[in-house]
Amino acid sequence: MTVSLEKIKIKSSGQHHILYDASLIDNPDETLFDPDAKSSTLPEKTNTAIGRAQARFFHYHGLDLVLKRYLRGGMIASLLGDRYFGFNVEHTRSFREFRLLHRLQALELPAPVPVAASAERAGLVFRAALVTKEISGATTLADHLMQTKLDDDLWQAVGSCIRRFHNQDVYHADLNARNILLSSDRIYLIDFDKGAFRYLGESWKAANLARLKRSLLKFRSLHRNFYFNEEDWKQLLQGYTKV
Ligand SMILES: Nc1ncnc2c1ncn2[C@@H]1O[C@H](COP(=O)(O)OP(=O)(O)O)[C@@H](O)[C@H]1O
Ligand SMILES: [Mg+2]
Repeated sequence: MTVSLEKIKIKSSGQHHILYDASLIDNPDETLFDPDAKSSTLPEKTNTAIGRAQARFFHYHGLDLVLKRYLRGGMIASLLGDRYFGFNVEHTRSFREFRLLHRLQALELPAPVPVAASAERAGLVFRAALVTKEISGATTLADHLMQTKLDDDLWQAVGSCIRRFHNQDVYHADLNARNILLSSDRIYLIDFDKGAFRYLGESWKAANLARLKRSLLKFRSLHRNFYFNEEDWKQLLQGYTKV
């Protein structure tokens, strides 16, 4: 698979900047990032795990897309950063996540396909958003485990999926059970906000895994029926070490 860098474009008007893949969408404008302008939103499809509904699913020019806005954290820091150091759009969370996802596609790693990122500064308000292609028919690992157990080979597949990213030095800043998606034929890692390529050291890999285990244990402590036990974790580690 070749990903042509020439297809990635930036469109700026005033303080609003859009980074997009011109092979997927043509000349996007700010309505692409406006959740209220969406014709079809299916919030019940997602985030049932903890009731957040930041992601919107919608159709756009024949594509099934997901809109995520960055609402928590980082905004004050961004504002301070803006004030003191000037506004560098490439440093925004949305542009960074888009650029990282784009590189992951080139490595053929199972992560969302980035479509467009938006970053806007309007007076004191700073907004950022990301649109990716929807991974269709997927559920989060957390949602799955609230319904039913996962077979051993799928636990192993989760482990080997994580290992594939680690083998390419990809660090996930928030590897938890909501950021792993199970589709009918594949396992994906999503939500690469603050993720990065990390070439120094190895300890972050174990820390990624430990973070995921903590997340699974936390879900288990909060939900009466959460299908996760030590044997499942062993299967995951077996898949991780096999790759
Ligand atoms: N490309 C995608 N395909 C399908 N579902 C997605 C996709 N991106 C996000 N989601 C859903 O939206 C939720 C929130 O997106 P995520 O990127 O994890 O942002 P955050 O956790 O910061 O709100 C995910 O847990 C997942 O359920
Ligand atoms: Mg997430």
